Amino acid sequence: MEEKDIYILGIESSCDETSISVVKNGREVLSNVINSQIKIHENYGGVVPEIASRCHTEVINQVMKEALKQAKLELKDIDCIATTYGPGLVGALLVGVSYAKGLSFASNKPLLGVNHIEGHIAANYITHKDLKPPFICLIISGGHTHLVKVDDYTSFEILGKTRDDAIGEAFDKVARVVGLGYPGGPKVDKLAKEGKEIINLPVTHMDNMDFSFSGVKTAVINLNHKTPNINKADLCLSFEKVATDMLENNILKAIKETKINKVVFAGGVSANSYIRGRFEELAKKENIEMYFPELILCTDNAAMIAAAGYYNYIKGKKSDLTLNAIPNLKLGE
Ligand code: KG4
Ligand code: ZN
Repeated sequence: MEEKDIYILGIESSCDETSISVVKNGREVLSNVINSQIKIHENYGGVVPEIASRCHTEVINQVMKEALKQAKLELKDIDCIATTYGPGLVGALLVGVSYAKGLSFASNKPLLGVNHIEGHIAANYITHKDLKPPFICLIISGGHTHLVKVDDYTSFEILGKTRDDAIGEAFDKVARVVGLGYPGGPKVDKLAKEGKEIINLPVTHMDNMDFSFSGVKTAVINLNHKTPNINKADLCLSFEKVATDMLENNILKAIKETKINKVVFAGGVSANSYIRGRFEELAKKENIEMYFPELILCTDNAAMIAAAGYYNYIKGKKSDLTLNAIPNLKLGE
């Protein structure tokens, strides 16, 4: 007997993107509407939580209509409503969670709370149709730096995480001090292409598989302060090099420890072209299977939430109308 297709409606509002998507069978994107607030927050040099919440409220209904229209479906065709409920900004999360609860109640469709970090990992199932766990995943974003062993679609073991700043935070800070503005990651990426790897910056070594980016971040800030005429492109590239060295050290440790030779990247910083280039080289040299999500699925979007929702839904997981936003939700909780 042919199996019935499953359509998940994903909702994402944890930070500054309002996004709603319809994904078929966890892998096929029928729509992925993303309303970014970057232009608004740019004026303030970073995300202003109050403004983020208000913007989500203003656009979410329109984003929903557009997502169903592009998918050529109606709410009655959806099997489950999956929404990010953490981690993220509490006010921003609450907009998506409340909206999902309202939809679920009105349409009598099951509701499912999805962990945002799990969503970032699941972005790869959309890009790589044959990708299956187990694998090692490096989640590098504005809020998270996690090295995770993905045992199955819904079970994870954290191997290491940052002790201080997330790598994306460090990119954004470097961008700000060298005068590139917000959002910093893509701007550092672009400027670094014109630079040389000639500035010595400190690499922080950890005994385990944790990360630390505050040392290199502070070194960039101090150097830029003491030497105002320093070449900014060189500084950006040298920062990228040291940050990537730290990622590489831990990935090699994780491969050795787990004996899993498959490495998957996730999160906004995995869009970085220098990091991609370095790991593509490493993959060839060390014969590692390496996967990156397509660029649009690296940063926040609802398709990844729908994909993660699918794997939880087919396991029988469900939330009820008491679902609440959990700003500091951990992976695997
Ligand atoms: O995954 P994401 O959209 O949000 C979180 O869940 O945190 O990641 C946003 C982060 C920001 O810090 C942004 O500067 C960084 O990803 N980012 C990049 C690039 N594109 C986005 N960092 C470095 N290079 C890029 N090309
Ligand atoms: Zn994210």
